[in-house]
Amino acid sequence: MARVTSTWTEPSNTATALLLLGRGSDPASERGVDCPGDLPAPSDPDLVARATAAKAALGDRVFVLGHHYQRDEVIQFADVTGDSFKLAQQAAARPDAEFIVFCGVHFMAESADILTTSAQRVLLPDLAAGCSMADMAVLGQVETAWEHFEDLGIAGDVVPVTYMNSSADIKGFVGRNKGVVCTSSNAKRALDWSFEQGGKVFFLPDQHLGRNTAVLEMGIDLEDCVLYDPHKPKGGLTDEQLRDARMILWRGHCSVHGRFTLESVDEVRERVPGVNVLVHPECRHEVVRAADYVGSTEYIIRALDAAPAGSSWAVGTELNLVRRLALAHPDKQVMFLDKAVCYCSTMNRIDLPHLVWTLEELVAGRVPNQITVDADTAHHARIALNQMLALP
Ligand code: 13P
Ligand code: SF4
Repeated sequence: MARVTSTWTEPSNTATALLLLGRGSDPASERGVDCPGDLPAPSDPDLVARATAAKAALGDRVFVLGHHYQRDEVIQFADVTGDSFKLAQQAAARPDAEFIVFCGVHFMAESADILTTSAQRVLLPDLAAGCSMADMAVLGQVETAWEHFEDLGIAGDVVPVTYMNSSADIKGFVGRNKGVVCTSSNAKRALDWSFEQGGKVFFLPDQHLGRNTAVLEMGIDLEDCVLYDPHKPKGGLTDEQLRDARMILWRGHCSVHGRFTLESVDEVRERVPGVNVLVHPECRHEVVRAADYVGSTEYIIRALDAAPAGSSWAVGTELNLVRRLALAHPDKQVMFLDKAVCYCSTMNRIDLPHLVWTLEELVAGRVPNQITVDADTAHHARIALNQMLALP
């Protein structure tokens, strides 16, 4: 299991209550622990100057990665911005940086730790920056499902594929069972490769990315996709359904992209004639079907860069990115697909006070919030990640 080097404590009753309230610690989940240090006040007007000074003092020793969903106040300090695929590549390509400060979420920092050298240290400025989707697939549940496939005699024909948005444990499971990691940038290539290895794919943990890629990009019938619910005996599926299925989808979803509805697509089309609807493949199947364009965050950025002046775009992805895209393209009408505000609350945990604290701790010779994945898990997860990086 992935661990942080801060001291973990078993949750007491009080800690469990705090956890339910969104505070406190849960070592077994994507959510981490409270910040152990003294954070500067968010109202501190010197924060930008402090971050600039700390980063300059660290020089090439530190490399800051920023996911596209991060806040503006944080993204301005990123040496590289990207989607999860690009950031994984960038982490692997920086062997000289002593510290990788990952402004993203926990599973991304784990992947960076797996892909960097043992001398490098990966830090997550706020350990509470987890991912609710990654938390929807727990290793024990996935192993139970796999045992069921073995009992049915189908495991030999099943290739496990996990979305990058999963814990290191799950990536390790996939590596152990000859599968591959994918991101929203390369899901089709990962599925093509997987179907060359076996007759079925077990797709974790995002049912929507799995279904959208299989049906809309590969032409697999919707009826050939079944939904495995880890909270039901045998996944809530009959033996026959599992034997017949080509795609076994894990019942997980993104709490941000899962909010967009078909109604929001219909509403924007009525309100803005000629609008282009552009969504992320983590959105529900009916939303993606109704959209004009679908792709990863990098694809969304490229599509808007290439769009003609005067065109209108309703974008279904995280709000920080949509807001920045609207500002970057004043000659185009760029709007959020849904009227309800849709930040990723865990991504947004990384704010400027946490970044300043992390950088200043490094300047002071302390290493806060290091993310480390144990050697055995890392070994197997690396196999599945490297298989992804080697996809044709
Ligand atoms: P990508 O970065 O692969 O587009 O995924 C989006 C996301 O939800 C990251 O958490
Ligand atoms: Fe997880 Fe969705 Fe947030 Fe990405 S946007 S970190 S998948 S909850």
